[in-house]
Amino acid sequence: MNTDALLLERIHSHAEDGLSVAGMTVNRIDTALTGDALIDALKGVRFLGIRSKSRVPAEVLAAAPSLEAIGCFCIGTNQVDLDAAAASGVAVFNSPFSNTRSVAEITIAEIIALHRKLIDRSMELHGGHWRKSASGAHEVRGRTVGIVGYGHIGSQVSVLAEAFGMRVVYYDILPRMALGNAQACTSLEDLLASSDVVTLHVPATPVTHHLIGPDQLRQMKPGASIINNARGSVVDLDALAESITAGHVGGAALDVFPEEPRSNDEAFACPLAGIPNVILTPHVGGSTEEAQAQIAEDVARKLQRFKETGTTTAAVNIPEVDLPDHHPDHCRILHFHKNVPGVLSSLHSIIAESGANIHAEYLQSQGDLSYVILDVDTIDRDVMKKRIAAMPETIRLRILE
Ligand code: NAI
Repeated sequence: MNTDALLLERIHSHAEDGLSVAGMTVNRIDTALTGDALIDALKGVRFLGIRSKSRVPAEVLAAAPSLEAIGCFCIGTNQVDLDAAAASGVAVFNSPFSNTRSVAEITIAEIIALHRKLIDRSMELHGGHWRKSASGAHEVRGRTVGIVGYGHIGSQVSVLAEAFGMRVVYYDILPRMALGNAQACTSLEDLLASSDVVTLHVPATPVTHHLIGPDQLRQMKPGASIINNARGSVVDLDALAESITAGHVGGAALDVFPEEPRSNDEAFACPLAGIPNVILTPHVGGSTEEAQAQIAEDVARKLQRFKETGTTTAAVNIPEVDLPDHHPDHCRILHFHKNVPGVLSSLHSIIAESGANIHAEYLQSQGDLSYVILDVDTIDRDVMKKRIAAMPETIRLRILE
């Protein structure tokens, strides 16, 4: 059977639904594929959907000439050789923000759990110890949450925390509009000194490496807690363990670690293990069925737009072009080519010599690659197609009829 799209690794069924509605034939394989098995499965396939376990190196791309785009139905894209994909005009899409609500919700759960020392009470009861006490347990209403990084996740935490009656302060290196009654802090120090709970939502960058170290922990209010659902490099875990053990920081919730096991079979170790009022979770902040469904819809929509219009918005490896719908009376030339001088003038000559008029033209370049889209009259399409395909600069040509 001729297959437009191949979906691997149990991608959520909403992806298949979306691609089928867009008229694609879809084949599913539940496992990850690599090497020759992937090359075999890709014969005749135009769109590939993977999660984090399949590997698409340059050799696989070279052996899959029909492949036009890869959808990574996850956040990361390092399982694909992005440069090799760009060099052969294969677009790669992912879904970096579909799980932000899930992370915001787990953060709220942890803010409450830390204020009530819920995990400790539960562990005690599991061990047969009944320790009923109000001491050190607090409502979150009226308390201050300090949000570091007011982007997709931080801003949602802000809205949810206010709904619980919390006061919200935030710190971001970029100017971000405050939502609700939230107040921006001019420095991280101000935020740390005024928060009952600090929650981190920054990316991993050289600047955010150990953004929270011994000095910052000292600047926190005595008894305040810290939450890291961002990236493992952001907090100095030894310093945090020391501060909690010394009785300064009151507790922590950590979902991400500097070194994380690569599979569920590997052991896990962390300096915070065994310390009271510390919640440890195995990088599940964004892992919910709802997030998986939204990732499936988001990436399937990007593949569908790419197939139907040539739009590459949010592609991670090739020039981004946002295109209007394809006009049925025109033919749309989608042309990936080497970013060298003279290509446009060659294209224009070929189109002019075929007697076609150009109705619209879009161009974007990135590194060695350029992507030009031309909406032209449908005259003499076959001759035009052969001549463009034969241009030495052509990397990939697709024509929408
Ligand atoms: P985003 O890019 O929307 O927001 C990040 C914000 O941090 C931006 O507003 C940026 O200006 C700000 N920022 C960058 N450097 C900063 C600094 N040095 N100080 C203060 N602010 C700084 O990112 P998003 O989607 O909100 O994600 C936040 C973090 O959450 C990322 O590290 C992401 O990888 C992580 N994440 C974790 C998940 C999990 O399962 N635990 C799931 C999804 C995301």
